[in-house]
Amino acid sequence: MADQFVQNPVGAEPPMLPVLRWDEPPEGPVLVLLDQTRLPIEEVELVCTDVPALVRAIQTLAVRGAPLLGIAGAYGVALAAVRGYDVEEAVGLLEQARPTAVNLGYGVRQAAAAYRAAAEKGADAEQAGQAALAAARGLHEEDAAASARMAEHGLVLLDELLPGGGHRILTHCNTGALVSGGEGTAFAVSLAAHRAGRLRRLWVDETRPLLQGARLTAYEAARCGMPYTLLTDNAAGSLFAAGEVDAVLIGADRIAADGSVANKVGSYPLAVLAKYHHVPFIVVAPTTTVDLSTPDGASIEVEQRPGQEVTEVTSPQMAAAGGGGSGLPVAPLGTQAYNPAFDVTPPDLVTAIVTEQGALSPVTGGGIADLCVRSRQV
Ligand code: MRU
Repeated sequence: MADQFVQNPVGAEPPMLPVLRWDEPPEGPVLVLLDQTRLPIEEVELVCTDVPALVRAIQTLAVRGAPLLGIAGAYGVALAAVRGYDVEEAVGLLEQARPTAVNLGYGVRQAAAAYRAAAEKGADAEQAGQAALAAARGLHEEDAAASARMAEHGLVLLDELLPGGGHRILTHCNTGALVSGGEGTAFAVSLAAHRAGRLRRLWVDETRPLLQGARLTAYEAARCGMPYTLLTDNAAGSLFAAGEVDAVLIGADRIAADGSVANKVGSYPLAVLAKYHHVPFIVVAPTTTVDLSTPDGASIEVEQRPGQEVTEVTSPQMAAAGGGGSGLPVAPLGTQAYNPAFDVTPPDLVTAIVTEQGALSPVTGGGIADLCVRSRQV
């Protein structure tokens, strides 16, 4: 099949509102989020003045994606501390807000450790809160740096695997600036290929049921002037069969010690398709997404979401106004739905894992442990 689609013009990337920022208005410190439930229709900020508001934002996916959840969790601990709320209670609420992305707990624990260490050294509540805030800011910056390194390593790997250039990359869910302190994970690699003039097409899975691909990845690709085409998730098979996919690039929410990868539901079928069609299946994630305490894929807790996300079609605005139950029904009343938010891809289907420490291929438990030692995540 010829590349029959009109390319978006490549131009200056228009500025986007910050995805997440700490602010200190006279009424007191707040965490301000770009409300991802409202994209791409409108760029609206959501102001969190307390931890329950942030937990709601996490659960409704106003803020989402593994690395950003870690950053948000860390700022959440700081918010509780500087506003004089119970920090230990905040830690529990934030850690449990969503179960699969390991970065959330990691970020929360980093900020909580900084808070406790300061308190143990005799800091008062204000000073300990500032220590938690500094830890959150540090994590935010580290993630931006990791994102830049992943883009570099990922582009080198792509060029090695696909020496002809003109990469046609299939991606799933959303892995760009909306999930990161920088330009993201898998999306950052595609963007690097685009800037280097080597991206022929970004195939964007719509990513049912919450449409992170259609609403968010297409939004980011359009902003960056990338040549992209949206497809329904179940059109991927015919795309592979037509020889239109050179590589699959996805992110991860948790990578177990054996290299199993939990990511947005629909990733595993892509890995199976990629294997059958001899196409590289590449996972891009910072080492903060590796969880050595989870031994294998079967041990990863997969979040189950409300059935209404499947049985109803809900506009972003409706979802923001109250979630399930307020959408347009697309199934008979009372229909049960199976709605896992993630699936798990075994390591033997993963060609490589790209982290800020470099690319790991083949994916083995020993290699995963080594990456963590290099990044001091152990
Ligand atoms: O449910 P979401 O939107 O938070 O899921 C996000 C994903 O599955 C991403 O692919 C994953 O977090 C990797 S982003 C670096």
